Amino acid sequence: MALTRLSVTGVRNLQPVTLHPSPRINLISGSNGSGKTSLLEAIHILGLARSFRSTRLQPVIQHDLDSCTVFGQLDADAGRHLLGVTRDRNADFQIRIDGRTVSAASELVQILPIQLINPDSFRLLEGAPKQRRQFLDWGVFHVEHNFLAAWQRLQKALKQRNSLLRRGRIDRSLLAVWDSELCLAGETIDQLRRDYIVRLKPVFEETLRRLIELDGLSLSYYRGWDKERPLADVIASQLDRDVQLGHTQAGPQRADLRLRIRGMSAVDVLSRGQQKLVVAAMKIAQGVLLKAVGRAAHCLYLVDDLPSELDQQHRDALCRLLSDLDCQVFITCVEAGQLHGSWQTGTPLAMFHVEHGHIMQTE
Ligand SMILES: Nc1ncnc2c1ncn2[C@@H]1O[C@H](COP(=O)(O)OP(=O)(O)OP(=O)(O)O)[C@@H](O)[C@H]1O
Ligand SMILES: [Mg+2]
Repeated sequence: MALTRLSVTGVRNLQPVTLHPSPRINLISGSNGSGKTSLLEAIHILGLARSFRSTRLQPVIQHDLDSCTVFGQLDADAGRHLLGVTRDRNADFQIRIDGRTVSAASELVQILPIQLINPDSFRLLEGAPKQRRQFLDWGVFHVEHNFLAAWQRLQKALKQRNSLLRRGRIDRSLLAVWDSELCLAGETIDQLRRDYIVRLKPVFEETLRRLIELDGLSLSYYRGWDKERPLADVIASQLDRDVQLGHTQAGPQRADLRLRIRGMSAVDVLSRGQQKLVVAAMKIAQGVLLKAVGRAAHCLYLVDDLPSELDQQHRDALCRLLSDLDCQVFITCVEAGQLHGSWQTGTPLAMFHVEHGHIMQTE
């Protein structure tokens, strides 16, 4: 699966452009502020209808323009898709897939799974559990097709239950309805997440080994409540506290992934470069697994500023892993020479150079 044509208009400082990327490795170089990250941002918008740099799309739209548009032609074994995302200053956005207007971004996500590795990625280790849940759920969503429905049921049940908890007098019969819905969806989500982690762990460990020797690093899953007890029991026993707090404490909405090394949190021990490699291994492992499952589309990787924080040996190792993935990859760096020797001969490689928002293919 690869983007064989990509058109970008009105994104940040980028001049309107149509590119024909390589189905494998695409290397984008250029000086600071030239527009490299903006190109990755455009691809991200095509796959998720949102940016990774700002929560709103408004700052992404080129100053003096009213809208930005990204269009892509995606070729996969299963056929061709034409994707388009347009966003205007009034916050209206339009997603089109094969000529049809679509309201849910999840349809895009299903067709074009994207993994982003950028200088902010260490937040996956350091940040709040929500980030790791999103990482986990990305994988489960793409591998288990009934996950989305269970997740939506959980969100609804939680919202209703929490609003009941905040009322002065609780309607017990109504609470029982939402408790039961919460527990049903919660146990399903936990089972799907657990199955996924069982598959992901060995792939992650193998991927990490290929990048760096980190003895004793372990990845484990916390489901959000006592692993010995059914969710219904825990919910029932914590009702008084839930009422006090005004929200539901236990459940899959509190799940987390734990990365530990010699009994300590990995983020407290590892260097920045090591953290970058661990996060890269986590994200690449998801792509490997997605491919192995064979049901979903393969994913596309965006790697912003690959060389930063890595020495030559680890840059080479990461490049080798990315090229062995057999996925389409877009990599940015300041100087193309930083990664020039990192590819085996014969790797399909397209090179682009960006200058003041103008993208040229150089090879
Ligand atoms: N809405 C916008 N309209 C026009 N230009 C913008 C807009 N938002 C940001 N810019 C400019 O776009 C340029 C490109 O930024 P970008 O982050 O893509 O650069 P980069 O090549 O990734 O640089 P670096 O190597 O520093 O990461 C910057 O000069 C920035 O000031
Ligand atoms: Mg950048």
